[in-house]
This record gives sequence, C-alpha cells and structure tokens, in this order.
Amino acid sequence: METKKRNSFSGSIGFILAAAGSAVGLGNIWRFPYLAARDGGGLFLLVYLVLTLTFGFTLLTTELAIGRKTKQSASTAFGVVNKKWKSLGILPYVICMIILPYYCVIGGWILKYFVAFVCGDMNKTLNKDYFSNFISDQWWPIIFAVIFLGATAIIVFNGINDGIEKFSKFLMPILILIIIIVAIFSITIKQIDANGVTRTGFQGFKMYLIPNFDGITVKDFISVVVDAVGQLFYSISVAMGIMVTYGSYVKDEEHIGKSTNMIEVFDTGVAFLAGAMVIPVVFTYMGKDGLAASGPSLIFESLPKAFSQMGDVGGIVGILFFAMVLFAAITSSVSLMENLVSSNIDVFHVSRKKSVVITTLIVLAVGVIVCLGYNILAVNVDLPNGSTNNTILDILDYSSNNLLMPLLALLTCILIGWVVKPKYVIDEVEKTGKKMGRKVLYVIMIKFVAPICLIALLLKSLGLLDFLLN
Ligand code: PHE
Repeated sequence: METKKRNSFSGSIGFILAAAGSAVGLGNIWRFPYLAARDGGGLFLLVYLVLTLTFGFTLLTTELAIGRKTKQSASTAFGVVNKKWKSLGILPYVICMIILPYYCVIGGWILKYFVAFVCGDMNKTLNKDYFSNFISDQWWPIIFAVIFLGATAIIVFNGINDGIEKFSKFLMPILILIIIIVAIFSITIKQIDANGVTRTGFQGFKMYLIPNFDGITVKDFISVVVDAVGQLFYSISVAMGIMVTYGSYVKDEEHIGKSTNMIEVFDTGVAFLAGAMVIPVVFTYMGKDGLAASGPSLIFESLPKAFSQMGDVGGIVGILFFAMVLFAAITSSVSLMENLVSSNIDVFHVSRKKSVVITTLIVLAVGVIVCLGYNILAVNVDLPNGSTNNTILDILDYSSNNLLMPLLALLTCILIGWVVKPKYVIDEVEKTGKKMGRKVLYVIMIKFVAPICLIALLLKSLGLLDFLLN
C-alpha cells in the first residue's frame, strides 16, 4: 500500500479550483457579510484585505509547502518535517472530526431551504418560527444532514481526479457566475417603504464599501482586527490541515506561489461579492436597522424576507442563492472529509473505500447528536468568550474555530518560524526555479506577526482580551 503512487491533481487549474472550493464556503457567504455589516463596512473590508495579503498569504503558503514537500496528509506531515513534532498531527484530525459533523448539519439546513424555494414554498419560510421549528424537529434535520453527508462521501469516494477535481471544476465556475448575477441584481434594486422613504441597493452597496470611522476607539479597532483575523483563517481553510493534504497532491512542477495568489483572489473575491449581494438586499427591504439586527440568522431569516418583497422574481433569486450556498458548502465539506480519509490512508494504510465508509459512519453518529442538540439534547451552556445559551453545535464550533484552530496555526508558525526555520518553506516554493514573492514579509510574518495575532485571537476566545484592553 505504502509504495503505491500518491494521487495528484491533474494540473494547476484543477488544484486551484479544488482548494478554492474548500476555501469558499459558508464563511464567505454567511459570515463575512454579517461581520462586515457589524464592523463598520469599509473599515472591515480594508483590514481584511491587508490581512489577506500578509497573514493569509503566510499561512496558506506554509501549509501548501509542507504538504507538497512531505507528500503526506496533515496527520503524518508534521512528523516528517520534524520527528519531535509528530504528535501535532493529531490536532488537524481532531479539528476536522469536530467540524465535519456540524458542517453537514448546516449543509442540511441549506438543502432544506433550497428545496423549500424550489417547491415554491418561499412564503412559508417567512414565518417567524419556520427556521427554529425546522431545526428543532426530531427527524427532518437528520434526514437533510444525511443527504448532504452522503453526497460528500460519494465525491470523496471517487478520489482526487474523478471526484474532488472533476466536481470542483464543474461547480466553482457556476458558483461564480450565480454570485455575480445576484450581486449585480441586488445593487440595482429600489424600494419605497410604507413611510414613503426610497431606499436603493446602491445606497446599501456604498455603506458596505465606504469606511465608517465615526466614534471608533483604539479598542474597537483592535476588536475589528481580531474579528478579521478569525474570519480570515477560517475562510481560507488553514489551520485544519486541509491545505497540507491538498498540497500533498500538487505536482513538483507547479509554482505554489502562483496558486496561493489565485486561491486568495477566489476566496476574497467571493466574500466581497457575497457582501455586495447580501447587504444591499437587506438594506433596501429592511433598512439600516434590519441590517444591524440580522447577525448570524442573516441568510435563513432576513434574506428570505427580502426575497419575498421582490415579488415573483424573489422566488427565482432565492433558488439561485441557495443553490450557490449549497455548492459552496459541499466543496468545503468534501475537503474536510478528504483530510480525514487521506489521514486514515496514510496512518493505518487502509483503502480509500474503507476509510470513506468508516469516516462517514462516525460523522453520521456525531451529526445525529448535533441535530438532537436542538431538542432532546439541548444543553444551553455558557462559553468563556461570553456567549450564552449555546447548543452542541455552538460548542463544537467554538472548540474548533476559537481554540484548536488558532492553537494549530500558532504551533505551525513556531515549528516553521523557529524550529526548522522559514527557509524550509521558501526552498520548497522556489523548487521550480521561480523566485518566491514577498519573501521578507513572509519571514517577519511567520516568526513574529502571525503568532502575535494568533495569541490575541486565543485570548479573545478565552474571554481574556477585553479584560486586558480595559
Ligand atoms: N473555508 C470555509 C468557509 O469559508 C470553511 C471551511 C471550514 C472549509 C471547514 C472547510 C472546512 O466557509
């Protein structure tokens, strides 16, 4: 089994689209717009962009280079980089095992909304309790999550070329097309409300773009930066081992630097367009207050309301929107499962088929528990970052995104920046003979700036950042 030739992506486009497929997910479409709306629109965009070109570039390059150099999935790659760091490989496995079940549950919710819009049930989704009634039902969320998980498993079962690559090459261009169409549409809409006030999508778009520095204190600014860091590394799918695993399928002739740039352009482009699509619609139909009140329920509660106000077109826009979110979510869940499956293959030398079946069964069991967290297993726990009344899904999300991921990223920075030294990554990037861009920046980032940002993020998660800033 060991001597079998490792799979690889057939070429750079296949790899870039698969990696971009992993990166572009719910984080871009659901989380980015509401963070941008909350954190002062243009200011958040600006901070995010700077961080992408520095922090994001550093982490993404590092993971891809580790994967390609070691030709191992995340669970075994760190041990090849440095024997003493072998145990770090457990962390990415645990992280993906925590995320995948609840990602499939959310994927199931999106599937439910897509089906509702296709069946012409848009008006039913407007009912105040539609979303909460659905997620607290004992059976339906499980059924939809199983369908989503099943689709993920089938793609991973088919392997790198016939599964992941083929699927990403087909879905990603459609996704980009839909998001551009819907974004243009939402910037051009106009509505006169009951009080005779006219609001346009373009006004909402301007609010999204123009930085608002009104009354911003240093503390607010730090909090925007920490929010943006958290969003960024979740969004580009680093700190879960995914990019290490995908990097291990990249051929030695490919230029990693170019791929990193392309993945960032995709990820940031889709996040930006998602904001351009969601914020103008919600602003036009629900005003500034509607936008401020939305928060995480933005796509399940506010958007359907906004769509319904568009009349018949709204039904079609809704179908397109949820289809797009579904595509974005499935290419991400595929990358999570691939990381688990590939790690099993590397560690236990089992076949891909066996690994997919076992992984799916474990994820299914945890997924069912996550669904039951909205009815018979409701726990209502308070978390150290200050959020109250959390469900099992929230707890899993918190422990992966807020604790384990920053921790893995921090340890990766220490391993590369201080133990094996940045040259390890730089040499791998320059293997093709082409120079690596932003080299000095890379060294400063991996040794100093990224670890500091990550420590700030960890402190925030533990509820200690506000305490220190006060
Ligand atoms: N990067 C994805 C997003 O933006 C999130 C993701 C999480 C992807 C976990 C893969 C795995 O939504």
